Amino acid sequence: MQTNPWGTIRFTDKVALITGGASGIGRATANRLAAEGAHVIIADNNAEMARTTVAKIEETGGKATYIEVDLADDESVTAAAQTVAEKFSALHVLVNNAAILRSGKIEDGAWIPNWEPETAIGLRGWVLITQHLLPLMKKEGAAIVNLSSEGGFLGRPGQWIYDAIKAGLVSLTKTMAQEFVEYGIRVNAIAPGWIVTEMHFGKATDPDAQKKALEELTISSCIMKRLAKPEEVAAAIAFLLSDDASYITGQTLHVDGGRWGMSVG
Ligand SMILES: NC(=O)c1ccc[n+]([C@@H]2O[C@H](COP(=O)([O-])OP(=O)(O)OC[C@H]3O[C@@H](n4cnc5c(N)ncnc54)[C@H](O)[C@@H]3O)[C@@H](O)[C@H]2O)c1
Repeated sequence: MQTNPWGTIRFTDKVALITGGASGIGRATANRLAAEGAHVIIADNNAEMARTTVAKIEETGGKATYIEVDLADDESVTAAAQTVAEKFSALHVLVNNAAILRSGKIEDGAWIPNWEPETAIGLRGWVLITQHLLPLMKKEGAAIVNLSSEGGFLGRPGQWIYDAIKAGLVSLTKTMAQEFVEYGIRVNAIAPGWIVTEMHFGKATDPDAQKKALEELTISSCIMKRLAKPEEVAAAIAFLLSDDASYITGQTLHVDGGRWGMSVG
């Protein structure tokens, strides 16, 4: 088994699929679940990053598999779910996590080209992959975590699609919790605040410098005044997925350092 600095081993013999597991919060979650004994499936459309994540988990003694999926493409989602069913007899954990962030104000119409990709990946694709994986999750019971966002509770200028999707995921989580309870499946959401991931520094001219700047940034509208590391979100995700959260379903846990607004600095 992989070296586990956290001490807890809650996912022995469990199979866990993480969409967007190649980067950021998804990668930190894959690392955490693998360290706690799970066989993690990295379901992502970035083969290079996914293979690197799998290799690092395997190097430290964990179990990981890459399955290619483009959540915006129905056929790709169907094929990925089929591959999972061919390789594994049951699925115990699903983390719906892969998303993209685009900007555009309502007034100037800059959001229009973003509507299809953002909703196709971050909302429709999540429901579709959950639907296709449901037969495998019904076999032995499961736990699902959907990644919402504080943005869904704030409603920020220039990010209405992303924030509306994230608000919608809170409702979707409650629907899933009620529809799946009879199969022994719990469903919860996490609403992270501002987390230092590739989503915010990956496309910068100098990603390392941008990452450092974010790590040192002060946020005035947050009790803890700082951004979080992806591992701090992964810890909360792992909790909700584990039997430690056996009486929690349909809920949204805010992992945001006590954020109440949008001001930075
Ligand atoms: N980083 C933050 O500040 C923050 C805050 C709140 C919520 N979130 C949410 O957490 C989740 C993870 O965010 P992150 O910051 O780790 O992002 P990230 O950009 O670091 O990682 C996203 C992952 O999704 C994959 N992906 C993108 N499009 C895909 C597609 N079409 N099909 C399959 N995989 C695809 C990417 O390859 C990548 O591995 C997202 O749902 C995001 O909205 C992030």
